[in-house]
Amino acid sequence: MMLSLEKSSISLFLLLFLAITTISSAHNISLILAKHPEFSTFNRYLTLTHLASEINRRQTITVCAVNNAAMGDLLDKHMSIYTLKNVLSLHVFADYFGSKQLHRITKGTTLTATLFQATGEAPGTSGYVNITNMKGKKVGFATEDNDGHFSSNFVKSIQEIPYNISVIQLSNIITSPAAEAPVAAPADVDLIDLMSKKGCKEFAKLLQNTQISKQFIDLMENGLTVFCPIDKVVNNFLPKYKNLTKNGQISLLLYHGIPDYHSLGMLRSKNGFINTMATTKGKNNKYDFSIKNDGDNVKLETNVVTAKITGTLLDEEPIAVYKIDKVLQPSELFKSQSINSDNSAMGPSSGADNGDGDSNDDGETTNNNGGMIMNVNGGWFVTFVLSIGLVFG
Ligand SMILES: *[C@@H]1O[C@H](CO)[C@@H](O)[C@H](O)[C@H]1NC(C)=O
Ligand SMILES: *[C@@H]1O[C@H](CO)[C@@H](O)[C@H](O)[C@H]1NC(C)=O
Ligand SMILES: *[C@@H]1O[C@H](CO)[C@@H](O)[C@H](O)[C@H]1NC(C)=O
Ligand SMILES: *[C@@H]1O[C@H](CO)[C@@H](O)[C@H](O)[C@H]1NC(C)=O
Repeated sequence: MMLSLEKSSISLFLLLFLAITTISSAHNISLILAKHPEFSTFNRYLTLTHLASEINRRQTITVCAVNNAAMGDLLDKHMSIYTLKNVLSLHVFADYFGSKQLHRITKGTTLTATLFQATGEAPGTSGYVNITNMKGKKVGFATEDNDGHFSSNFVKSIQEIPYNISVIQLSNIITSPAAEAPVAAPADVDLIDLMSKKGCKEFAKLLQNTQISKQFIDLMENGLTVFCPIDKVVNNFLPKYKNLTKNGQISLLLYHGIPDYHSLGMLRSKNGFINTMATTKGKNNKYDFSIKNDGDNVKLETNVVTAKITGTLLDEEPIAVYKIDKVLQPSELFKSQSINSDNSAMGPSSGADNGDGDSNDDGETTNNNGGMIMNVNGGWFVTFVLSIGLVFG
């Protein structure tokens, strides 16, 4: 486990927490489908693509299965497992549609977000599925861009556990050129090239300049998650970066990697501390940060800044690369400056980008004493951040 907690006594809480989460995700899609041999191929591929665990982790979900014949047609296309994962993830909806809901769609048509959309790999709105009630009680399924043609129809309900999981049968795989587009196998991924092309060129340069990129690349086969700050924030951060010692720079870069694979779904279901590649076994080099979820936002909180995941460059087990909107500053290298209350409700930044690339979105100003002055509805609060870890432990 990558979770590192402040105090070992808290591990009891962790155990309790794990016990509760195990109970709460009560469904097991593999088990549900195992009762129906005609879906055995679909079931096998849910496991092979690791979508099964993603489905089990979700609280509200609809799985559109196809029978072995329809899976045979799909497999005849000889797609890589990574492409198959995209195709199948288009058949998992992040919402609950039992037979009843399908036949009672408001205005007879709706768009629903799929796990393909959630991976961030779907271009534009290609990760949405259009469900439409048609003549004769038929329910059609197609991608959002469909020319009025529905490639797939509702056949029957397989199992419904309202409103946790609905497993239904569709006549065919939903045709989607976007989902069927070939995906490079992770081993073929050029991490530096990928980052450079997708908005994280400056961060990639820093990795190369320090030759730290090798440490990232070495982990790619066994599991790696990278959070790369976008170019603008890296550029603004450069003066601070150059101020660090060589070792400090290396630790800062390693702080942006986790030596393990975490899909967005896994990050969403996580709340707690996580070790990074900069973490060493020792007393004062924890270099961890905490992951917090509010709604659909995944936030990374160091004691100095809170960054948000703003996009996915790659999410193919065993590698995930996400874009973040701030440089992660470990408290081992920078003074703790802000407490991270959940104040997203305070509205957008009032142009507080002061050139450090680390200004918080919430109009906070920092002083130099490790304290923070925050303007809340016109009143001033001064908060001192000493053992923030205890709050989130
Ligand atoms: C649905 O999920 C909730 C928790 O997410 C669980 O408490 C409940 O028992 C589940 N319902 C059924 C019918 O399994
Ligand atoms: C779900 O069921 C499958 C098949 O019976 C089993 O191998 C797997 O361990 C189960 N998963 C969980 C999380 O219980
Ligand atoms: C779904 O597709 C049909 C056919 O192209 C279209 O008429 C309908 O407006 C679409 N529904 C939504 C919600 O976009
Ligand atoms: C660089 O370090 C010096 C000395 O600690 C400090 O005064 C200065 O503000 C730092 N510059 C930046 C950009 O952080």
